[in-house]
Amino acid sequence: MRIGIVGATGIVGRELVTLLATSKLEITELRLSATSRSKGKSMATHLGERRITEVNPGFFSGLDMCFFCVSPAVSEKWVPVALANDVVSIDNSSRYRLEKDVPLVVPEVNGDLLGKGERIIANPNCIVTPLVAAIYPIKKHFGLEELILSTYQSVSGAGQEALNQLEDELASYPSDLREGKFLLNVLGAIGSIDESGHSQEEIKIVRETRKILNMPEIPVAVTAARVAVKRGHCQAVTFITGKDADLREISEVLQAEGIVVTAAPPQPLALGGSDKVYVGRLRENREHRPRSYSLWLGADNLRKGAALNALEIAEEWWFRH
Ligand SMILES: NC(=O)c1ccc[n+]([C@@H]2O[C@H](COP(=O)([O-])OP(=O)(O)OC[C@H]3O[C@@H](n4cnc5c(N)ncnc54)[C@H](OP(=O)(O)O)[C@@H]3O)[C@@H](O)[C@H]2O)c1
Repeated sequence: MRIGIVGATGIVGRELVTLLATSKLEITELRLSATSRSKGKSMATHLGERRITEVNPGFFSGLDMCFFCVSPAVSEKWVPVALANDVVSIDNSSRYRLEKDVPLVVPEVNGDLLGKGERIIANPNCIVTPLVAAIYPIKKHFGLEELILSTYQSVSGAGQEALNQLEDELASYPSDLREGKFLLNVLGAIGSIDESGHSQEEIKIVRETRKILNMPEIPVAVTAARVAVKRGHCQAVTFITGKDADLREISEVLQAEGIVVTAAPPQPLALGGSDKVYVGRLRENREHRPRSYSLWLGADNLRKGAALNALEIAEEWWFRH
């Protein structure tokens, strides 16, 4: 299989290059591209050193599949070129996620959408993928009536430049502590805020969650925040089930689907580099309303939240075609 990556030098692209080494895909060719800034640099891959090229129309010729690890605007420019070259395109950006004919896939939840001749597949937001991976088994067994969540998103979720900024802040600590910076701070909005008071990130989380769960009307309330953590996103999730469930049953259902359930809350420092979705502090909210439960969820935003899920989409696609 001949594979390309656009945005191979970014934080998600690099993670994907690493993961390809253990992939089930039989990769015979791997092409890497980014901007003119990265052109000519070389990257270690499981097939040996590969030179980075500046993405150009010829890059796609002869590929079977291409991963896009770039901004929505860059995906919008190059995905159509890939499609014109008959290259299956897996897009990590938000550009195509909500388009009606584009499957938005977390394989263990809705992998059955693949295998129907689709040529673009969208990879969800880094909060949404682990969220639906944990919530879908609950929906399946106990029904789901409502979701309320607050996120604690690490700086790597905003890309390499943001991570560089955090490193600079750490290097200059304590001289440069200011409002708006990451260090020793919490930023209570991610992306711009619209006239309704919601941030772009919150709107994405609501819409993508509804699309993947195939529940277009489910009430979802989200507050998304950035915290001064390098890698690993956490979320405090409250859910209302359709029927009574005891905590042992919920825990068993989650574990049966590969979710790691612990008593203590998962911590970013412990889960960075892990492929798993972790759930801790599962509890019933007796002071809230019937069938109300909360949990603390953690996952590596660069693995299950991005590169790993993209690769699992590719593997599932290949298996079904
Ligand atoms: N970070 C996460 O946790 C996460 C999770 C889920 C989804 N995503 C999404 O994944 C995408 C990539 O995110 P990231 O965090 O990896 O960003 P990043 O670290 O900023 O990397 C961006 C990549 O895009 C390349 N690029 C920029 N402009 C380009 C252009 N005009 N043509 C070709 N390549 C270009 C960069 O190349 P140079 O190195 O040459 O500049 C770099 O390889 C984004 O859409 C993001 O929203 C990210």
